[in-house]
Formats: sequence, structure tokens, C-alpha cells
Amino acid sequence: MTPSPDRSQLLDRFHTIVNGPALFNALVAGAELGLFEHLSRHPQAEFKQLCETTGVPAHQLRVLLFALCSTGLVRREGEGYVNSDVAEELLAPQGEDSWRDILVGWQRVYYPAFARMTEALKAGTNTALDDYPGTEPTFYQRLAHSPDVESVFHAAMTAFTLRSLPGLLDHLDLSQTRHLLDVGGGDGTTSKRLAEKYPGCRFTVFDTPSVAELADRAMPTSLGERVALCPGDLFTDPFPQDVDRVLFSHCLEVFSPEQIGFLMGKAFDALPPGGQIHLYGFTATDDEQTGMYGARLSLYLNVLATGSGMSYPAADYEQQLAQAGFTGVHSVTGLPYEHTLTTGVKPGE
Ligand SMILES: C[S@@+](CC[C@H](N)C(=O)[O-])C[C@H]1O[C@@H](n2cnc3c(N)ncnc32)[C@H](O)[C@@H]1O
Repeated sequence: MTPSPDRSQLLDRFHTIVNGPALFNALVAGAELGLFEHLSRHPQAEFKQLCETTGVPAHQLRVLLFALCSTGLVRREGEGYVNSDVAEELLAPQGEDSWRDILVGWQRVYYPAFARMTEALKAGTNTALDDYPGTEPTFYQRLAHSPDVESVFHAAMTAFTLRSLPGLLDHLDLSQTRHLLDVGGGDGTTSKRLAEKYPGCRFTVFDTPSVAELADRAMPTSLGERVALCPGDLFTDPFPQDVDRVLFSHCLEVFSPEQIGFLMGKAFDALPPGGQIHLYGFTATDDEQTGMYGARLSLYLNVLATGSGMSYPAADYEQQLAQAGFTGVHSVTGLPYEHTLTTGVKPGE
């Protein structure tokens, strides 16, 4: 049983949540203006200097700094401002795994859709998709019509994938693996990191044609020989047949239990006896009462992405793997960002 927070903790949480959208956007503005980066290079920077670097008029910068100081992520010290340790660690650094890219993606894609939450939940489908051009039933498919949104979305996904990857890298041993199929592998970030760690293994990234193009552009030529791209639709196109592992990383949670059962069956058929399936991603606790990352993702999936799916408990996946015919099913739980790695083996070797 998850212990319930006491009244003062709950009140605290309430006040943070209801002011959260404004403060979240203030963080994104601070990140986009390079404020955290500047404070990292110039701790104790004074107000006038911050006006010059950000180009924000004095009154508006005063308001932004008030908001950032109210979060505690930035502090005023004497005449200057400093990053807190958390801002220094998470908001100042730039790079492929930057929180800035994650937050910009949430701001442009997730949070506008959440304004339609009541309507979408009542309708039982992803009505926020109406805000995007195209006629396809999922956000992933419609992204092909909006290349700008697609690149913001994938930059956010890449950054978050990199942040959650250590859980997979630490617990997946591919030293005896010849060829891994990375289903719904996105821009290839996961396969790229696995390929660097396991030089004896080949990888095939299966994703939609427009995402495969992104992956092609992101793949360094040094890995091009060992990381192949397979553009297609998970539900209508065949999986390559010469693989000995199938990985679904951040993939199955976007689908309904029926679709997950179908994809597990498809992976079972593609594997030889002794081949293994690995599921890596967000999972809920068994009682589904905690997990802010999983809750946010589940809402996004239902309001915008696919109209189904969620951060399922690991026990759901384990049961479905057994139903699909896999044996030796087991999970490593408690990985970073509410992640679990679940593995099963195709019997008969
Ligand atoms: C949440 S993302 C995960 C990407 C990647 N595995 C990662 O961890 O960063 C889900 C991926 O599934 C892909 N996808 C969704 N529906 C698909 C379909 N019907 N056929 C092929 N790929 C699909 C999306 O394009 C997207 O890249």
C-alpha cells in the first residue's frame, strides 16, 4: 500500500499544482532565454546584466525573475541572482539530453492538448488530434504533415529517452546477441547507444517512414553499417525475420491491451526458439496510485497521441507475455523515471 501524504504535504502539493502551469512556462521562458545557462557561467549576475543578455525589458524581466525565485530554482543573493543546485544540474546544461528540449516539447505538444482533457476523456477518444492536419487516427501518423512539430517532438523524446536510458543499458545484456529489432525505435537514439556498447550486434529500427527519415539523418556514418532502418507500419507491415531479440522501448504503453497482445504475438512469430523479448518503459505501481510521470504520459496518450494506452503496471505486461507464449517472464522494477524492464523467452530451444 502506498502511504497517503499528511494534510500539510497535500496542501503544499495542491498549491504547487494549481500554480504549476504558469511556473512551468516561466521555466521554459528562462531556459529559452538562456538565463540558467548565463547564471551558470556568471553566478551572482546582476539584474542589469541579465536584461542585456536576455534582451527582455526591465519590468518583464523583473516579473520573470519573481516567478523563477518563487519556485526556489533561482535565488536572489545580494544584488545578484544564482542558480539553485537543481537548476544548475537540470536547466543550465545544453546538449542532446537537455531538459530544455523536453520542456519545450511538453509546452508545444502536451500541454495545449490538455486544455481539451475533459472533452477527450468523456468522448473516449483523442479529440485533441483535431488541432493537427491530416486524417490519420494517431498523433504519430499525423506528425508527418507538420515537420516543425515533428522535430520539436522528437527532440523532446530523444532528450527524455537519453535521460531514462541508463536503466536499460545497466540491465540489458546483449553480449551474446546477433541482431536486435527495436520496434517503434523513433529516431534511433536507443539503438545508437546500444550499438556503441555492443559492437558485435546489429540493430534494426522499425518506425513510420517519416520518423525513419529523421533516424537516417541522426545516424552517424560510423554506425550506419550496423544500425538499419525499416520504415513501415507496426500493424500492417511484417517484422524482419532474422532477429534474435525484439525490444519495445517506450512503445507498448501507447497502445491498447488488444494491440499490445497483437504486437507481442508478432514478436513471438519473428523470434527463433530461445529468442528474447524486452519491454522497457513507464510502468504504474500495482495499485495505480502514484507515479507523476506515468500519469502525465497516460493522459497525453488518451487526449492526443492514440486515444488509448497508459503507463500499465508491469504485472499486466507479464500476464500478456505469458499469454503470448513467452516463458521465464520477469521484470526489473524501480528503474529511473518509473521505468521497468520486462523480459520473456520464446521456448523450444
Ligand atoms: C513514444 S515513441 C518511442 C520512441 C523510442 N522507442 C524512444 O524510446 O525514444 C513511440 C514510437 O512508436 C512509433 N509508432 C507509433 N505507431 C506506429 C505505427 N503504427 N507504426 C510504426 N511506428 C509507430 C512512433 O512513430 C514513435 O516513434
